Amino acid sequence: MALITLFLLFAVLSLTEVGAQKNDSNIIALGSSLSPKTNSSSWVSPSRLFSFGFYPHDNGFAVGIWLMGEPEGTIVWTANITNLSNSSDSVELTKDGQLVLRNEKQMEVVAVIAKNASEPADSTSMLDSGNFVLYSKNRSVIWQSFDHPTDSILGGQNLSQGQHLISANGDFILNMQTDGKLFAYPVSHERENSAYWDPNTSQLDDDSQLTLNLTGFLCLGSYGGNIKVLAKSSNHLGRNTSLIIYRATLDLDGIFRLYVHTFEKNNNTGFTSQIIVWQAIYDQCQVNGFCGMNSYCSDVSGKGECKCYPGFRPINGNKNKNKNKNKNIFLVCEQIIKNDCITSGPGMLYSVRNPLQHMQWGLQ
Ligand SMILES: *[C@@H]1O[C@H](CO)[C@@H](O)[C@H](O)[C@H]1NC(C)=O
Ligand SMILES: *[C@@H]1O[C@H](CO)[C@@H](O)[C@H](O)[C@H]1NC(C)=O
Ligand SMILES: *[C@@H]1O[C@H](CO)[C@@H](O)[C@H](O)[C@H]1NC(C)=O
Ligand SMILES: *[C@@H]1O[C@H](CO)[C@@H](O)[C@H](O)[C@H]1NC(C)=O
Ligand SMILES: *[C@@H]1O[C@H](CO)[C@@H](O)[C@H](O)[C@H]1NC(C)=O
Ligand SMILES: *[C@@H]1O[C@H](CO)[C@@H](O)[C@H](O)[C@H]1NC(C)=O
Ligand SMILES: *[C@@H]1O[C@H](CO)[C@@H](O)[C@H](O)[C@H]1NC(C)=O
Ligand SMILES: *[C@@H]1O[C@H](CO)[C@@H](O)[C@H](O)[C@H]1NC(C)=O
Ligand SMILES: *[C@@H]1O[C@H](CO)[C@@H](O)[C@H](O)[C@H]1NC(C)=O
Ligand SMILES: *[C@@H]1O[C@H](CO)[C@@H](O)[C@H](O)[C@H]1NC(C)=O
Ligand SMILES: *[C@@H]1O[C@H](CO)[C@@H](O)[C@H](O)[C@H]1NC(C)=O
Ligand SMILES: *[C@@H]1O[C@H](CO)[C@@H](O)[C@H](O)[C@H]1NC(C)=O
Repeated sequence: MALITLFLLFAVLSLTEVGAQKNDSNIIALGSSLSPKTNSSSWVSPSRLFSFGFYPHDNGFAVGIWLMGEPEGTIVWTANITNLSNSSDSVELTKDGQLVLRNEKQMEVVAVIAKNASEPADSTSMLDSGNFVLYSKNRSVIWQSFDHPTDSILGGQNLSQGQHLISANGDFILNMQTDGKLFAYPVSHERENSAYWDPNTSQLDDDSQLTLNLTGFLCLGSYGGNIKVLAKSSNHLGRNTSLIIYRATLDLDGIFRLYVHTFEKNNNTGFTSQIIVWQAIYDQCQVNGFCGMNSYCSDVSGKGECKCYPGFRPINGNKNKNKNKNKNIFLVCEQIIKNDCITSGPGMLYSVRNPLQHMQWGLQ
């Protein structure tokens, strides 16, 4: 009996200890800062799955939120900073409650990261949901990254009317319009009629929004109203060996996908897996704007490939457009004009070729 009591007492003690740790360890106080060149380059969530801070990008650093994974993390949110940060910058929660990017040498504020907070912050925290929040004195949320999505939404997050996702290369947009309709189109053609994906919303209410809930249902609809389930990952329910994170992202190739990340608990190897549960489009060539000027998309290989029309060649300069943004094979082509065509007299010379077979014209 004494043994059991002792055991129970121990269990209660360790529980409170864990609770207290959880409670305080991820509350960041005023005056705290992060810097890419020290060991404190990020603030982590209690589960350690999500981090807020600096990550390497191009030749400098960006500020954002990433999900732990292998071989490297998945960026789920990026701060809107016009100029890329460098190693002498720091992120600071200032004593007067602003979350800013500061240049250490010049001590000047380069950018305000959490704009539009309703009042000065008292603390900040990276939550296990992947939501980075600013708290007021009474611990109510006054700003959250979930309200400012970039290319992804996570479980528990909505894409509300008037919000949009933009692919990380800036090429594609998924727009949740204020009339309740959802459209994906190339950024260069910001028009409804250049949409390459628009789920049928005719049965839904005007106040619909896109939601990804905590059990992995990706839905369009309104609270208490009609709901259209776009995708579900319910087959992952009930797995108690893993932590599960759901993520829906407008990827670099313009396709909107739902991912499931699973993390093994109590496993020091930190084994993780990521699978695609659903994607809005399976034929890459349906994505308007996937291939550039004078090129066409070919899907014979199972994934879209951009090729120049016969008589055209790639413009080399354009290959650098998406440097460091792998996966994107955006191609722009120009006509091959032989010198003698230009010099040999009035008008252009034309040659007639066999037509390309099985071609379909898309967006102009
Ligand atoms: C942290 O714990 C204290 C005392 O147990 C409690 O008053 C406070 O609300 C907790 N804060 C959070 C964010 O859970
Ligand atoms: C950073 O961490 C490494 C290894 O964990 C340690 O050797 C180094 O001294 C730390 N640097 C600073 C500035 O704390
Ligand atoms: C990012 O910041 C720029 C300049 O402050 C602003 O014009 C733009 O609208 C912002 N973008 C988003 C998505 O908030
Ligand atoms: C960004 O950099 C450019 C050129 O270096 C500079 O002119 C501009 O003022 C910078 N913008 C901000 C917001 O720091
Ligand atoms: C970082 O930015 C500051 C201010 O914009 C500039 O003075 C400094 O040279 C930059 N450092 C590097 C390594 O680019
Ligand atoms: C900040 O608030 C203003 C006015 O309420 C609004 O126009 C602007 O879009 C907001 N900016 C962001 C980044 O939410
Ligand atoms: C916290 O403060 C805000 C305004 O500062 C107020 O609107 C809100 O009701 C307060 N919340 C609580 C739980 O006291
Ligand atoms: C998402 O929308 C639901 C239903 O309207 C709402 O209950 C929930 O608070 C929203 N989530 C966030 C993070 O705003
Ligand atoms: C959308 O759904 C409604 C009802 O299910 C159907 O009548 C209509 O034809 C559909 N529209 C399109 C464009 O598929
Ligand atoms: C997610 O949405 C589905 C479909 O609307 C619903 O059955 C399920 O209960 C929701 N899960 C949570 C955690 O709200
Ligand atoms: C889930 O937990 C129950 C009870 O703790 C256990 O019996 C079951 O084997 C576990 N399931 C898996 C898939 O590990
Ligand atoms: C961790 O999980 C992986 C995959 O489930 C497994 O291969 C590995 O043996 C596990 N490691 C430990 C220490 O349990």
